[in-house]
Amino acid sequence: MAASYSSLPKKKLTSWRQRHPPLQLPPGPKPWPVIGNLNLIGPLPHQSLHKLAQKYGPIMQLTFGSFPVVVASSAEMAKQFLKTHDHVFASRPQTATGKYITYNYRNITWAPYGPYWRQGRKIFLSELFSSKRLESYKYIRVEELRSFVSRLYALSGKPVMLKEHLSRVTLSIMSRIVLGKKYFSESEFETAVVTLEEFQQMLDKLFLLNGVLNIGDWIPWLNFMDLQGYVKRMKALKKKLDRFHDHVFDEHKSKMKGLMEDSMPKDMVDLLLQLADHPNLEVKLNYDSVNGLTQDLIAGGTDTSATTVEWAMSELMKQPHLIEKATEELDRVIGRERWVEEKDIPQLPYIDAIMKETMRKHPVAVLLAPHLAQEDCNVAGYHIRKGTRVFINSWSISRDSSFWDEPEEFRPERFLQGKVDMDVKGQNFELLPFGSGRRMCPGYSLGLKMIRSSLANMLHGFHWKLPEDHMKVEDISMEEVYGLTTPRKYPLVAIMEPRLPLHLY
Ligand code: HEM
Repeated sequence: MAASYSSLPKKKLTSWRQRHPPLQLPPGPKPWPVIGNLNLIGPLPHQSLHKLAQKYGPIMQLTFGSFPVVVASSAEMAKQFLKTHDHVFASRPQTATGKYITYNYRNITWAPYGPYWRQGRKIFLSELFSSKRLESYKYIRVEELRSFVSRLYALSGKPVMLKEHLSRVTLSIMSRIVLGKKYFSESEFETAVVTLEEFQQMLDKLFLLNGVLNIGDWIPWLNFMDLQGYVKRMKALKKKLDRFHDHVFDEHKSKMKGLMEDSMPKDMVDLLLQLADHPNLEVKLNYDSVNGLTQDLIAGGTDTSATTVEWAMSELMKQPHLIEKATEELDRVIGRERWVEEKDIPQLPYIDAIMKETMRKHPVAVLLAPHLAQEDCNVAGYHIRKGTRVFINSWSISRDSSFWDEPEEFRPERFLQGKVDMDVKGQNFELLPFGSGRRMCPGYSLGLKMIRSSLANMLHGFHWKLPEDHMKVEDISMEEVYGLTTPRKYPLVAIMEPRLPLHLY
């Protein structure tokens, strides 16, 4: 009797379990209390996650502090998150960065999925990145590229830190498109609200702080202690950014006062200010929105392109025969009497292959930007809980030897033989430098234009060599630093000599 009573709840439990089998989570390491698996993540998180994926597989779950984190490390898994279940994973987690330095999530990059993000993206895509609008700003790209090669020419024969010049040209292009002019002084004789150097430092900090692993974001009850001092640095940076944005805002406002209400906006800030006064806008744009959206464009467009070209040149300088191949193509298609123009690019498949190979081996956003599960979802048979942070390890996917032959080798030829149809525009999940799906980079076409033209003209216009005679190609370090972009740890220094007739510079 006693035995049959005691077996009753057990029986009930078994049948309940049969009806509700435990949800299967992706495999992953066992978490520690409080920190979870943060102890397994080193200064280059994409590389730590790459190693863990070798053990746990292409979809794995970790715990960072208090939150579940799922990492996709294969093309198939990336496709699951960015295509099959794109709508579920199209939000972003809230972080100190979004709060303090991107105007309380009033930009696109950190905005949660919803009407504000949708409207902002629509404005970007229709007003800035449409092919008509991109074409109308072509003259700015042409002028700034000319100034760029002239500046390099003036430094012929001297060691040059390439990234400084690459950031300057992309920053100048983005500033003129978005703000209407450069807003920074380029020489000691000019006065402006910031110097070029200060502006670049501000952007460097912005990118660094955008990508940091801030303990308070992962262990919220430790937030108030700001253990790494990142929040303090974010607040200090915000003050500087505010000063800059205030100046831009005031100047545009006063300029607009003198104009008719329906006059054509000259730049993106004009347009955003006009929209801010628009009564029919679905979500109102306020002062923070104008700042957040403007900053998104300047920051999103500058460092990404400059970092990619610096990686491309580093790889090429390691293999000078690739430079020879590229210049052979340039001499044949363009000749030595003119610079490369944007319309020439489709005739330069080798340059295009160099760019793709650079974006494969050195995707600047190695983990894309973090995605957030908006609801529970079953992915590849695993249960992913609402609130899970998702990282797509694009760095790892580019090194998958089951798809890429000798992935550690820099070999542009792979895109000319075999992987001919592979593109970087989000359709091939083996190559995702811009992501894919709803959150894919909206600025990719502008980014590609800036990268291809600058790279082609640098190779066309100059001979390149290492700064010191005794320096060997093996001495070029390929170490990275992690942030929202992943640039070289040690900036590339090179010496250029002109390659074209001198009247062209
Ligand atoms: C080499 C050039 C570039 C690369 C490699 C790049 C890469 C990326 C990546 C990987 C993402 C995140 C995708 C995701 O979360 O799944 C992103 C988002 C974004 N990018 Fe780019 N980008 C580049 C150029 C640009 C340019 C030129 C702009 C603007 C002028 C821009 C603006 C943005 C914005 C606003 C987002 C946020 C999109 C969203 O959250 O909806 N990017 N980019």
